[in-house]
Amino acid sequence: MSGHGEPIPMTARRSGPLKGRAEVPGDKSISHRALILGALAVGETKVTGLLEGQDVLDTAAAMRAFGAEVVRHGAGRWSVRGVGVGGFAEPAEVIDCGNSGTGVRLIMGCMATSPITATFTGDASLRKRPMGRVTDPLALFGARAYGRQGGRLPMTLVGAADPVPVRYAVPMPSAQVKSAVLLAGLNAPGQTVVIEKEPTRDHSERMLRGFGAEVAVEDGREGRVITLTGRPELRPQVVAVPRDPSSAAFPVCAALIVEGSDVLVPGVSQNPTRNGLYTTLVEMGADIEFLNPREEGGEPVADLRVRFSSLKGIRVPKERAASMIDEFPVLSVVAACAEGATVMRGVKELRVKESDRIDAMARGLEACGVRVEEDEDTLIVHGMGAGGVPGGATARTHIDHRIAMSFLVLGLAAKKPVSVDDGSPIATSFPVFEDLMRGLGAQVGRDEPRP
Ligand code: S3P
Repeated sequence: MSGHGEPIPMTARRSGPLKGRAEVPGDKSISHRALILGALAVGETKVTGLLEGQDVLDTAAAMRAFGAEVVRHGAGRWSVRGVGVGGFAEPAEVIDCGNSGTGVRLIMGCMATSPITATFTGDASLRKRPMGRVTDPLALFGARAYGRQGGRLPMTLVGAADPVPVRYAVPMPSAQVKSAVLLAGLNAPGQTVVIEKEPTRDHSERMLRGFGAEVAVEDGREGRVITLTGRPELRPQVVAVPRDPSSAAFPVCAALIVEGSDVLVPGVSQNPTRNGLYTTLVEMGADIEFLNPREEGGEPVADLRVRFSSLKGIRVPKERAASMIDEFPVLSVVAACAEGATVMRGVKELRVKESDRIDAMARGLEACGVRVEEDEDTLIVHGMGAGGVPGGATARTHIDHRIAMSFLVLGLAAKKPVSVDDGSPIATSFPVFEDLMRGLGAQVGRDEPRP
């Protein structure tokens, strides 16, 4: 929902060792896709472990507006009775995707090749984000978009009555754009081809196949070439959503920087398109054991045992950026607690996330006494060693859940407390963050209202 509500100021204080088990919620990317593909299948899809964060709840409401029956049966247990590919009804209301770029872009994709019109909006963060990156390829199918300047929401999308299949090379590393094109291709005749230079998260490809679509993936000279055959009948599935590696990053990174910590984070995805942070942390000297490797909900997962570590800064290879794109904010916090500089290049996509994450992290880290360098595509954090960050500042979160959680993690290891001006966006992706972190022994909480 676009009403952002009252800000919730929060503070984290230097904490004793974090101990215990951190069961993080379901994966956000897979949760959105389970609802959307369920709505496009004929019959009843059953989902367990669904993330009940606001982003996903907004996608559930949107699927109802397009005619699917979406029902909550209990914690994380949902069902979706779909209308079939091409069966979307025209929504009577504006579709409000709240804070979620993934929600709005994927939903625009899956309605773009139906003869219906829908208007989309979101919160103040989402209304600043570029939609041209999806409406450009959707126009090739025959859809028309009418938005605000710079391709911003609110925006009306008129779906193509007579869609044609498309061949599209995605100009930036973006799973959202790739997925929007594939979802649009579902209701186009013939074969839709998407080419990506660098691999991005592949949940859409995996799940489309799981729902019965024909999806071929080849690694060619141009990059990954994904070919989808249009107009399949999608079959309903039982989807067990694995835990979110991007949420797991917060207790993992907190355990690494809080002295004496020893935390188990079970069921963390080791999907190679998502696990760049974990590779990076190990290179920095992190003590992480990858226990009990197995498959859950079609994803490779492991239980991570994480102990406090003295870390050193590294140069993160550019080509790894896409596999850890959501983890750079918390990595920059870990980098501040390492010895030496951590160099993150090829990260300009961070500027168009829920906030400009390079700017938000740089300003907040500087306020906490950390030296930072940045340019359009780079963030360099000069580490101050374990326990060395002064802290004692309030970071602005710019309606961005990952900025809020990152600075709260920093506060657990900094000399003086670290506050955030608004922790309310945490509910979009990790509604149990505060309780889960406190359960490990973290001193984090909401500030007392000022009289
Ligand atoms: C997502 C893709 C990524 C990521 C976002 C989730 C997805 O966005 O940042 O949190 O589920 O497809 P981009 O595709 O814009 O990189």
